[in-house]
Amino acid sequence: MSLKNIKISDLQTRKGVKWNNYNEAIIPAWVADMDFPVAPEIQEVLLERVQSSDLGYPIAFEKSNLPDLLTERLQERFSWEINPSEVLSLTDVVQGLYHAVKFFSSKKDGVIIQTPIYPPFLQCVRELDRNIIINPLRQASKKYEIDFENLEHCLKGKPKILMLCNPHNPTGRVYTREELEKIALFACRHDLIILSDEIHSDLVLDPVPHIPIASISKEVEARTITFLSASKSFNIAGLCLAFVHISDRSLFRVFDESPRHLIGSHNSLSLAAVEAAWTKGGGWLDATLAILMENRSYLKNMVDKNWPQVRFYPGEATYLAWMDMRSIGRGEKMAEFFHERSRVVLSEGETFGSEGKGFVRLNFATSPRILSDILYRMDRAIQDS
Ligand SMILES: Cc1ncc(COP(=O)(O)O)c(C=O)c1O
Repeated sequence: MSLKNIKISDLQTRKGVKWNNYNEAIIPAWVADMDFPVAPEIQEVLLERVQSSDLGYPIAFEKSNLPDLLTERLQERFSWEINPSEVLSLTDVVQGLYHAVKFFSSKKDGVIIQTPIYPPFLQCVRELDRNIIINPLRQASKKYEIDFENLEHCLKGKPKILMLCNPHNPTGRVYTREELEKIALFACRHDLIILSDEIHSDLVLDPVPHIPIASISKEVEARTITFLSASKSFNIAGLCLAFVHISDRSLFRVFDESPRHLIGSHNSLSLAAVEAAWTKGGGWLDATLAILMENRSYLKNMVDKNWPQVRFYPGEATYLAWMDMRSIGRGEKMAEFFHERSRVVLSEGETFGSEGKGFVRLNFATSPRILSDILYRMDRAIQDS
């Protein structure tokens, strides 16, 4: 099946949360799942596993070839040299973030977060009873930027951890080397552990490099816990497998010595799927990135031409568009507005932190035709308002 040739009626037969939550009149464009069919190479290996009833307990992660494949991949794509023995598997990235916050801080310790942010960052710190220290990103003229001046004020909250999302969800920012060096310097100076969620690192759309913050220097690597996964880029989040890289042996041991059944890990299908993605899925990923680039341009042109009151900076990465709808004058809950008026489901801005009030996040990882339908519906609601 072609990546662009997707029918809404087929998507509506899916059983996942994106397409199975609403009635048929609705187009969902919220949760970060793509509408594209999964790479044939992944489908094939999953079918093989099912057809041969090979669904028993999987081999240990260290015995699989994934640590070596990840090591090669990080070297090839980001020139980051790691040792395969520094990688552990997790069930998913969010679970890893929860573990890391729990392991490396105590109740009431401060955790710095740049908002707007992928909501589980906030939930995790809140639920574990740590002190959330918000360092809101600054809306500069062309992009969101880290507010380094305010970062110094964050020290008042006695931080132990700095959480980073790079590429950033929801703004799509890919931080530059200069920005990362400044963050790293801050973390080193104030003895902070960096939790770096780099799950979107395969989804860079602009000709800018993704730089893993841990690759900046050995000193920075030693205080960084990096989270990675194939789930966003290969659209297999439901299979549940993620990876954590920790070079410092004492930090690594904290994860490694925690019982496996608490930490979580892979399963036979996720292991097979990620191996296929990383060994054979490159062509599919390139084709997907090309469509995402087209969709992003289409969306940008549409906003510039028809919605001058909407502020939208296309991010350098991800398929998520973060749009400032405050000038539409319909209040803070703009996703609710579009749900009711357009029958399009977007992510509500305020779930990404209070700076997100009046914003929406739109997932444009769909066919150009469905995207055009989404934008047409939204346009009618905006013009009628
Ligand atoms: C930044 C970020 N981290 C983590 C996740 C979720 O990853 P997982 O399903 O492995 O928990 C997402 C999903 O959209 C995300 O955008």
